[in-house]
This record gives sequence, structure tokens and C-alpha cells, in this order.
Amino acid sequence: MKKIIILLGIPGSGKGTQAMRLVEHYGYEHISTGDLLRGLQGRKDLDQELQEAVDTMLEGKLVKDDVVYRLGFDAIRDALDAGRGVVLDGVVRNLAQAERYQTFFEELGLSDDVQVIEIALDDKESFDRLKARIASGYQSRPDDTEEILRERIKVQGNEALEPIKAFYNKHDLLAVVDGRQSMDAVHEAILRIFL
Ligand code: AP5
Repeated sequence: MKKIIILLGIPGSGKGTQAMRLVEHYGYEHISTGDLLRGLQGRKDLDQELQEAVDTMLEGKLVKDDVVYRLGFDAIRDALDAGRGVVLDGVVRNLAQAERYQTFFEELGLSDDVQVIEIALDDKESFDRLKARIASGYQSRPDDTEEILRERIKVQGNEALEPIKAFYNKHDLLAVVDGRQSMDAVHEAILRIFL
């Protein structure tokens, strides 16, 4: 079983939903840069870099790579040091991040312990799903307004995912599951990757 599971997917593809199920199934640590950033919101003790990152997140744009590394590397090291694998949810969102994380795993001697899984969904379906989440009022989030949602999908939609997928394909690390299926079916499809 690979120690590092990287979930790729556009906003609303189901990364968070499937990460929680994988964490339950394998006893891994769930690391979501979105959750880590939202956890910083409203704190008074943030330095300028982190405050800017929270503001950027609230605009639906990608935060700077250095902030992602600052949050992600420590969280990953802590989990691995505690003997737990990790499910990385939205931690990789551009080519530079994909490359840097792969180097990070090489430095840890874990480059053979990585499985990348794309939960594939088209931009329109993702928009409809997240709009439904807003309308339901359930799981309300500060970056879940219709306006920010449009920006998130514009900046982080399938076009932006292409170079990341090409990188992982080149390294033979990428598996793809169909995100249009039910949550249970997506979960089963992910588990089959590890058989
Ligand atoms: P983040 O919190 O990761 O937001 P996101 O990528 O937009 O993802 P969501 O949580 O909205 O969607 P999801 O794919 O997890 O789907 P979910 O399971 O929730 O990031 C927030 C922000 O932080 C980013 O916009 C960016 O600013 C910043 N950021 C984070 N990481 C970064 C990085 N590495 N670099 C730079 N910036 C970064 O499901 C969505 C909905 O669909 C739910 O209502 C769910 O119930 C439903 N659903 C799930 N699966 C199914 C299914 N199979 N069928 C039907 N409905 C489903």
C-alpha cells in the first residue's frame, strides 16, 4: 500500500468527500490545503504572507506556491513521523507544485510510495454541484459564493489540470476515476486501484 495518496481534481470533483473515506478506510491523515487555509481565517497572529494567502483563497485564486509548501510539508512530515500515510486533498494544483512535491518525496526516500488519483469531472458538472451545495446551505464555506465559485472554476478548472496530469503520466503515477458516479462507486473505484 502506498503511503502517499494525492487526490487531483477540479473544485467540486469530490476530493474532500473521497479523502475522508480513504482516511477512514486506511487510517491515514487527511491533509487539505484548503482546510488549512480556512483554519487561518480570522486569526490575528498571521504574518503578511499568510494573511495574503487567506485573502487570495477568499478570491477563489491560487495562493502562492511557497505558502502551500509551508503548510503542506510540515503537515506531511508530522504524519509520516507518526507512522501514518497521508491523503493529500488539493495539495497539488499547478505544475510547479507537482514537481516540487515529487522532489520532496524523493528527498524523503518515498518517490516509489506515491499514487496520484484524478477524480475526473467536467467544469459544468462541478459548477452545478457546488452551486447546489451553496443553495442547500449545508457545509457553508467562505469561498462558496456563486461569484467566487465562477473564479475558482475559471482558474482551477480542467484546463489548469492538464499540465499536472501530463507530469504525473510521464512518471507513470496517475490513475483516473470517473467522478460522475455515486460517492460509493467512486470510493470503490479508488480502492480497486490499490488491489
Ligand atoms: P479547497 O478547499 O480544496 O477547495 P476546492 O478544490 O474548490 O474543493 P472543494 O472542497 O470545493 O471540492 P472537492 O473537490 O473537495 O469536492 P467535495 O468533496 O467538497 O481549496 C480552497 C481554496 O484554497 C482554493 O480555491 C485555493 O484558493 C486555495 N488552495 C488550496 N490548495 C491550494 C494549492 N495547492 N495551491 C494554491 N491554492 C490552494 O464535493 C463537492 C460537493 O459535491 C459536495 O457538496 C459533495 O457532497 C458533493 N459530491 C461529492 N462527490 C459527489 C458525487 N460522487 N456525486 C454527487 N455529489 C458529490
